[in-house]
Amino acid sequence: MSSKSANTEVGSYFISNYPPFSQWSADQLGEVRAAFCAPPAPVSLGLYLHLPFCRKRCKFCYFKVFTDKNSEQVERYLAALSREIELVSQLPVMGDRPFRFVYFGGGTPSFLSVRQLTRLVDRLRVNIRWDQAEEVTFECEPGTLSEAKVHALRELGVTRLSLGVEHFDDEILRENGRAHESAEIYKAWPWIEAAGFSSTNIDLIAGMVGETGSKWKETVRRAIDLQPDSVTIYQMELPFNTVYSQAILGQRIETPVADWPTKRAWVDDAFDQFLQAGYSVSSAYTLVKDPQRVNFSYRDNLWQGSDLLATGIASFGHASGVHYQNLSEWDVYCGALENGELPLMRAARITPHQALIRELILLLKRGYLEAAYFRQKFGVEIIDHWRDVWTQYQRDGFVRLTGDRVELTRQGLLRVDSLLPAFFEPEHRSVRYT
Ligand SMILES: C[S@@+](CC[C@H](N)C(=O)[O-])C[C@H]1O[C@@H](n2cnc3c(N)ncnc32)[C@H](O)[C@@H]1O
Repeated sequence: MSSKSANTEVGSYFISNYPPFSQWSADQLGEVRAAFCAPPAPVSLGLYLHLPFCRKRCKFCYFKVFTDKNSEQVERYLAALSREIELVSQLPVMGDRPFRFVYFGGGTPSFLSVRQLTRLVDRLRVNIRWDQAEEVTFECEPGTLSEAKVHALRELGVTRLSLGVEHFDDEILRENGRAHESAEIYKAWPWIEAAGFSSTNIDLIAGMVGETGSKWKETVRRAIDLQPDSVTIYQMELPFNTVYSQAILGQRIETPVADWPTKRAWVDDAFDQFLQAGYSVSSAYTLVKDPQRVNFSYRDNLWQGSDLLATGIASFGHASGVHYQNLSEWDVYCGALENGELPLMRAARITPHQALIRELILLLKRGYLEAAYFRQKFGVEIIDHWRDVWTQYQRDGFVRLTGDRVELTRQGLLRVDSLLPAFFEPEHRSVRYT
């Protein structure tokens, strides 16, 4: 890797889907409508709800979020979302499938007050249920929680609470525009522990602006002290629409984020600290305290080709072989639902080969692949099909091949997203990702 490409430049690193989002289009909306109106494929079903409100916009954030909406506007959004759930619940593609997993993501879903949350859930429950779901995740920001809100979440059926901690150093939190400081993490954690969720997760980011080796070590130590059931560690990236990216491009400043080798070294250290504390590696980004007990229904089902009904502004879903994304502008999203229409923006029907690539790259994030799985599901020998790629990665020290199994080394795992485009079809290797 050249020293230039080792810098954290503006652009996407993290790969969460295939073909790349930039290749989806409004032309293909007929495909998603057709998929919605037909009976489902025999795969499991999940539900994603996007709650796009935050107290502040993090300077590294690339998600669709709003920090300026008053309670009337929040109410307009929640009414639109409830209407969307009503429309979705009547689609033939639902079949008689119960939701296997539900994910309230953001933004900051916990931005909502207890009253707003309870009312939203009451409205959703007129049309859908999640009592059979094996996992109901709810993302939180520490400073938005109260003891009553944490209990309300438990009452509403949340099984997995995910807390956006990101870092424990107040200077770093402030510099990066986080809404919370460390005191709010320590205030909220005992409430979360006492509420008895089946699973608790903490998000951290390696490479926030201002990061140093010793501050990072201390953050990891403090995360371990809290003993969450799992921890998610992302390497800081700078997609185009973040505040930092705009400053780099507009004011032509140097990137304020540590380079990729440094971030990998920090994550490597974090993995060692967590392993020493008894945690196990569960993917390139995740460590778990007890692998027998904690499962990641959302992640594992999605990575193995489940359907995901996406609701909320700009959210991404998948139904019967078709990717789709919802409208991403406030008035257009709310307006569509106020007219009783599904708020669809763009879609892509994927070929069986693209479905194979998608599963291969997503499952590789776990750190291993079993060739037998792909042989049975797609009738393709993945080791032979991508022989040159595997051989190169073996030479680079990123992969080990043993019989029917491909395994990433730690060095491979730490840069897994950069290894994935080699599996893409040639026409998708150099296109913009988003
Ligand atoms: C949508 S955010 C959820 C934030 C959480 N709900 C909250 O309000 O604190 C999901 C996670 O993506 C990660 N993330 C966001 N922007 C990132 C970036 N530029 N680079 C790496 N990770 C990022 C953060 O760890 C964040 O917690």
